[in-house]
Amino acid sequence: MRSNSLQIATYLTNCAVREQTLLTREWVAAKQTFLDWDSQPSLFKHYPHFCYRVRLGDYPSLAWLRETRCITDEHTVAQKPYRRLNVPSAGNLHPLEIYVQIRNITGLLSGIYHLDVLHEELVMIREIAGEGIEPYVGMEKRFNGVIVMISLVPFRSSWKYGLRAWRYLYLDLGHQIDALYASIRHFGMSCTKLSVNEKLNAIMGLGADEVIGAVYGVGELGERSVKPLSLPLMHVQPTDYTQTLEPLTASLAEVGIYTEIATPIVYEDFLKINHTRRSAREFNPEGMSDTVIQELMSIPAAVSLEIGIFVFQAYSMQLGLYRNGKCAVSGNFNSEIVHLLLDQRFISGSNMVVLIFAENFCAQTHIEAGNYAQELYVACEHHNAGCSGIGAFYDDEALRWSDKALLYAVAIGGKV
Ligand SMILES: Cc1cc2nc3c(=O)[nH]c(=O)nc-3n(C[C@H](O)[C@H](O)[C@H](O)COP(=O)(O)O)c2cc1C
Repeated sequence: MRSNSLQIATYLTNCAVREQTLLTREWVAAKQTFLDWDSQPSLFKHYPHFCYRVRLGDYPSLAWLRETRCITDEHTVAQKPYRRLNVPSAGNLHPLEIYVQIRNITGLLSGIYHLDVLHEELVMIREIAGEGIEPYVGMEKRFNGVIVMISLVPFRSSWKYGLRAWRYLYLDLGHQIDALYASIRHFGMSCTKLSVNEKLNAIMGLGADEVIGAVYGVGELGERSVKPLSLPLMHVQPTDYTQTLEPLTASLAEVGIYTEIATPIVYEDFLKINHTRRSAREFNPEGMSDTVIQELMSIPAAVSLEIGIFVFQAYSMQLGLYRNGKCAVSGNFNSEIVHLLLDQRFISGSNMVVLIFAENFCAQTHIEAGNYAQELYVACEHHNAGCSGIGAFYDDEALRWSDKALLYAVAIGGKV
């Protein structure tokens, strides 16, 4: 009875989140104002200059961590640096940070570090020995290796997207988890599933402006016992300023920390893919073969998701809506789907659009949609196809294609 009422409560909360984050024609029309990019909150968190730092590149055993989240493109826009990372992000706003606890790794002081992606450094927040975060992630013994924590920084995204940022935070997190896992596997390691306790956020020194979203272990449990940290870590704001969007931060605080392990396909050209992947901004429909379309269709998604794939342009394949590899409805629905995706014109040149639906509108399904979309990005890069995640769509218009909620879309086509 209790679990039933809990399920109902969760369902109601999830429905409320969906309603509060809908895109409707009225909302889009009212939102046609320009953003002041000068007021964009900072994209990278900075710990104080006096913290001890090490260069990630000096530790080959941590190459997997460097490849997990790194800057892969940098140029100047309006006299300001414009940086893009190995993982895509809605609006290129990158509302995530990574922390690691490192124990017993040759040449490194054991401690809790922030991954400073901008400077490719690990910044020590606290040195550790007999204490650690193990008790907060379900372990009574010291964990030799690395405990990875990925946090969400809501204001980086809500600054532009308001409450709809809720969705993008979890989709971005899904991309990042999949990228972490692919990197770990490429370097021949594996992940340990942890069980997190609700005190982790506070002990990591994080306030309402940043919450841990996912945690993983890379290493193995040792023999020696460990005590919980006696004091929380120092608190540092993740952005240079913050404006709290109360319903957003309240909702994030209620979501549990994700610990499920993704199983990405790892291609032999992983390193090249990780550095060259970009979101497509135009497509060449002649540049994509039917074999690649079918290859992409065969990539598995989590069971929590329902996948509908629209093929608009192909050499000999039937055009239409595909489900489970079979054409379920034939026809060319290009103009309907471009409209559904907020009339973003470049999508009309794509060969296919993947729609990702779920029965349960919740953080977990958004993360899993992000995992799957990251798989598509990586596979496209491997097959020299273009790809872009699409988080902007008219939610209710998607109900024409499924009775489930649309969480995310991915447009795919030949590279220009
Ligand atoms: C959750 C999510 C939603 C996105 N939504 C859109 C979108 O609606 N339209 C679009 O053109 N690009 C979209 N993108 C792509 C981003 O704009 C792109 O990742 C970002 O500009 C960084 O560029 P890069 O992927 O080439 O590094 C989305 C990406 C993500 C991860």
